[in-house]
Amino acid sequence: MADLFENPMGLCGFEFVEFAAPTAGVVEPLFERMGFTLVARHRSKDVVLYRQGDINFIVNREKHSPAWYFAAEHGPSACAMAFRVRDSHKAYQRALELGAQPIEIATGVMELRLPAIKGIGGAPLYLIDRFEDGRSIYDIDFEWLPGVPRHPVGHGFKVIDHLTHNVYKGRMAFWGSFYERIFNFREIRYFDIQGEYTGLTSRALTAPDGLIRIPLNEESGKAGGGQIEEYLMQFNGEGIQHIALLTDDLLASVDALQMAGIPLLTAPNDIYYEMLAERLPGHGEPVEALKARGILLDGSTTGGDKRLLLQIFSQPALGPVFFEFIQRKNDQGFGEGNFKALFESLERDQLRRGSLGATSSKEPA
Ligand SMILES: [Fe+2]
Repeated sequence: MADLFENPMGLCGFEFVEFAAPTAGVVEPLFERMGFTLVARHRSKDVVLYRQGDINFIVNREKHSPAWYFAAEHGPSACAMAFRVRDSHKAYQRALELGAQPIEIATGVMELRLPAIKGIGGAPLYLIDRFEDGRSIYDIDFEWLPGVPRHPVGHGFKVIDHLTHNVYKGRMAFWGSFYERIFNFREIRYFDIQGEYTGLTSRALTAPDGLIRIPLNEESGKAGGGQIEEYLMQFNGEGIQHIALLTDDLLASVDALQMAGIPLLTAPNDIYYEMLAERLPGHGEPVEALKARGILLDGSTTGGDKRLLLQIFSQPALGPVFFEFIQRKNDQGFGEGNFKALFESLERDQLRRGSLGATSSKEPA
């Protein structure tokens, strides 16, 4: 993909997300049910690689490693992530010059030293320039399991579409500037979603490569106690709230997830699906099939220009951390229209049941 704008760090997509849990056997079965396959084991550490398409999920079980301490503090979580860069040495030097804090990770004999800076919640953010098959970091530091395909198709998920950070109230500017200053990310969307009691502000940042997208969420309701605050309490700090995986066929992928027993968020009410025709006239998607699976639809169809996004969320899967499954048909948003649509569908449902506006709709006595 050609760069969207100046790309001084030479970014080219997500390389991996690393996970850890205080107890073994939490993350691994979840990934298997999500369609990932164990493809490689680290040569010297208790670290394994799960893969689906071009998505790398590393599970780090090494005692006394940064991942181990991270899990002790935050519970089962994404404890590190990696960006692909064209030249990791150059990118690392540039990041340090711009004020990024280096993180030293102890390496074993004959093991690659992967440059990392301090990222969200203190988690290492690695810069990786060895990602081609045959010369990747896994070809050096890991052993491939015999007879296992290197890029298993799984449930059809191909890449990490985006991952979202939850930050403390007032910290949005800090994290926005971190990605803008060091990596030249740009804000492509800003939205403020107010429910009746709570709210959240979201700033969606996109990297110059158009492949790394990181929305930042902050609590915005006056009362407090909203979903972002709840996450921060439960997670014991700022961190990755959800990771979205991209597929070309969400209907088939969701069927596979359901067969495998991945708990997904309950489908919205029927009114949400009835409203699709007025929200997105001429969308052309099979409403009954979406409804049967609880898949949400967003985007726009203004002037016959169809830009659609199909999405569905998992239940919280690792502590408060959850996954999103997404298919894009020319829409580059994050489903923000669904927040409003879900809210309105609940309101209309209340109206139909007579629990809202019951007095105002009556004829005057
Ligand atoms: Fe998302």
